[in-house]
Amino acid sequence: MSVMELSAHVTEEIDHWLAKYPPEQRRSAVLGALRAAQHENNGYLTVDIMDAVAEYLGLAKIEVYEAGSFYSMFELKQVGRHSISVCTNISCMLCGGEDILAHLENKLGIKVGETTLDGRVYLKSEEECLAACCGAPMMMVDHKYYENLTTDRVDEIVDGLE
Ligand code: FES
Repeated sequence: MSVMELSAHVTEEIDHWLAKYPPEQRRSAVLGALRAAQHENNGYLTVDIMDAVAEYLGLAKIEVYEAGSFYSMFELKQVGRHSISVCTNISCMLCGGEDILAHLENKLGIKVGETTLDGRVYLKSEEECLAACCGAPMMMVDHKYYENLTTDRVDEIVDGLE
């Protein structure tokens, strides 16, 4: 079965990462490759895309699947246009992170792990501290950190998402 082709933009990005490592270490480029491929596919990976990355890097498919399924920055199903992760780990929990999350779930009408019906917002599960404890409670929206949150500030941020 033939493997799908990656776009020129994605292969350029992969080549950029490959150039940073010795030629026999092509596996080191897998995270950068998957990130570029996911970005181009509206924020999630498919098996076909991971197969194409494996082919381009000359790796076994399983090596790419392992990376794609291990790291929480990769999504393996279609998600909303914007991704929100509310930290509820210890510092954020002590500073009201769970209230922030409950407010968001209520506002959006979804639970963690779900996407709004209009496809606008994905409420991503965040298992670990996001390393911004001194700004607790905090959340990450499309990889950008927002700290010292209040429910009013959350409304302002979320209402500003297209
Ligand atoms: S506990 Fe939330 S950023 Fe560390």
